Amino acid sequence: MRRTRVAPWSRRMVAETVLTPADLIWPLFVTEGSGVEEPIASLPGVSRWSVERIAERAREAEALGIPCIALFPNTPANLRSDDGREALNPDNLMCRAIRAAKEAAPGVGVLTDVALDPYTSHGHDGLVDARGNVMNDVTSEVLVQQAIVQAEAGSDVIAPSDMMDGRVGAIRAALEAGGHHDVQIMAYAAKYASAYYGPFRDAVGTRGLLKGDKRGYQMDSANAEEALREVALDLAEGADTVMVKPGLPYLDIVRRVKERFEVPVFAYQVSGEYAMIEASVAAGAGDRDALVLETLMAFKRAGASGVLTYHAPLAARLMLG
Ligand code: PBG
Repeated sequence: MRRTRVAPWSRRMVAETVLTPADLIWPLFVTEGSGVEEPIASLPGVSRWSVERIAERAREAEALGIPCIALFPNTPANLRSDDGREALNPDNLMCRAIRAAKEAAPGVGVLTDVALDPYTSHGHDGLVDARGNVMNDVTSEVLVQQAIVQAEAGSDVIAPSDMMDGRVGAIRAALEAGGHHDVQIMAYAAKYASAYYGPFRDAVGTRGLLKGDKRGYQMDSANAEEALREVALDLAEGADTVMVKPGLPYLDIVRRVKERFEVPVFAYQVSGEYAMIEASVAAGAGDRDALVLETLMAFKRAGASGVLTYHAPLAARLMLG
């Protein structure tokens, strides 16, 4: 078995899996102001950017061959409310960032998160009843409007991350009715209630706000068959692509979804996973470049079409050599 491993040319020749910048989706955090770069303490190396600096990141993605960026807003505290109505403002931070990115780099896809958590004063992804329960159908109606507002601003891929039932079908119908026939839906189909989202909640300013937890709508880490049912429903409702989230701890799910459905599956290597790699590098426990590439290879080998990762610009540079 070792004969094919001895020389680099031979290892390259027999490699079963290849990584390219086209495998990457780059998540970016948007904040108010101009000329702003705000580092995020729990995500060392990742910043929030003001709108015109998001445009620079879109051009950077283009130069690196990264096909798509994903936007997440850090809504100013005074615009957060119980009903998250700022999500429907066509001039909110998200919509301004979409327009700036598309103007700066029209050839780079813009993926936008549909969920209310960056806009609500309680940090939940939907509307909450008197008992603190996130209500499904009324939330879904608001998410449909949020998706349309984003599509009108120029979003290429609507990515509902809220885990309400039935929202993919409702969003698809509204996109069609609104003439947005080419706007894709990437469903966060199997999204788990996870301890790995901590730094993201710092980045979008929900960590201190969140009342309770999200286990009433996000999946239980004990379940895999349930993930397959989630994916089946989202595909039946019109999802173009599906996502599994978090990433590395759920690679078995990526694999099973790919084998069962043979559709493009994306994995979200989430903020806590990024922070784990950075912490091990800071502790002298490993080499960043090697850890990043090996991790991304694992996603690809498991069957992922691509990975949402905060390491995207570094990884693209490494892949380009
Ligand atoms: C919320 C959302 C979350 C992430 C993406 N969209 C957090 C949550 O569900 O609380 C997490 C991403 C990450 O941790 O990098 N709609």
